[in-house]
Amino acid sequence: MKPGNIIEVNGLKKAYKTSKRDPGLINAIKALFKRQYMEKEALKGITFSVKKGEILGLIGPNGAGKSTTIKALSGVLFPTSGTVEVLGYTPWEEREDYVQHIGVVFGQKPQLVWDLPAMDSFEMHKEVYNIPPREYATRLKRMIRLLSLEEVVKKPVRDLSLGERMKCKLVASLLHNPDLVFLDEPSIGLDVIAKNIMRDFIIETNKHNRTTFIITTHDMQEIERLCKRVIIINHGGIVYDGPLHGIKQQFQSFKVVDVKMETERNTFSKKGCTVLEKRPYELRIQIDTKKTTIKEVINLLIKRYDVADINVSDPPIEEIIELVFRQ
Ligand SMILES: Nc1ncnc2c1ncn2[C@@H]1O[C@H](COP(=O)(O)OP(=O)(O)O)[C@@H](O)[C@H]1O
Ligand SMILES: [Mg+2]
Repeated sequence: MKPGNIIEVNGLKKAYKTSKRDPGLINAIKALFKRQYMEKEALKGITFSVKKGEILGLIGPNGAGKSTTIKALSGVLFPTSGTVEVLGYTPWEEREDYVQHIGVVFGQKPQLVWDLPAMDSFEMHKEVYNIPPREYATRLKRMIRLLSLEEVVKKPVRDLSLGERMKCKLVASLLHNPDLVFLDEPSIGLDVIAKNIMRDFIIETNKHNRTTFIITTHDMQEIERLCKRVIIINHGGIVYDGPLHGIKQQFQSFKVVDVKMETERNTFSKKGCTVLEKRPYELRIQIDTKKTTIKEVINLLIKRYDVADINVSDPPIEEIIELVFRQ
């Protein structure tokens, strides 16, 4: 492993085998005798590395392969081929030792005992991970204070809000002070306040302990606040790996034009242009400057429409990423 790296992934592939069946009773019966299998290539050979202390954002549309990546890296899934080395371990081979050094939060999975207070789950954690009592107490106290969980941890988990539950899961994942934490959609369904508190906490933990984080999320604001580096994954392959601002540069050929009109018009068509939004007196048009120029588009708009206002801007990062996905 290169010095400074804590993760090296090379040509990681995962094909899921699923049984395929056409709908209907007859087909269900047929399937009892002869199963048909289908392979779904969720990861098509991805390669990347991560340095200690990074907060890496893993983004991509639904079904891109983000969770599959997290599962392979955290050791709960056997890949089809390729190599993964994390902290000197091959995750799925040495799982028992390996999990001592990592933390995992799956946003959509229950990970705490439902009927018990989170505090009891933390205690169990302490036993399972053999955390020395004093370290446990100090860490827990600090995290409870940072996340304002003083009362929350005493209530049964089932009575907690989504945000409170997520904060407790985050605490549980960090109690043994892992070097590396995987967060798979940690902010799904949370309100803005809870999201902000979690973000600040992640940043603080990253600074305080040099904990490395790998986060998958749909929330681009979260990415912008947390991650210097992002990996964009689409259809099981990496389509971008680099700094967040680099995405804008790489896909800078796109501009957005907002036009306000005095009369009601809601169509526009031109080579290299896509209408993103339309309202009776407003159009939002995306221009691919490789195919046409801003000047041409503006001239055309002024000639044909009763233009009141025009504004040209860089598309917001969400829109750029949408474009990357569509390509
Ligand atoms: N256990 C599984 N069995 C079969 N197919 C799966 C399984 N888990 C995921 N997939 C498929 O693999 C692809 C990638 O899934 P996933 O890694 O969960 O994507 P993401 O987390 O980016 O939404 C999807 O097409 C999904 O349907
Ligand atoms: Mg997922």
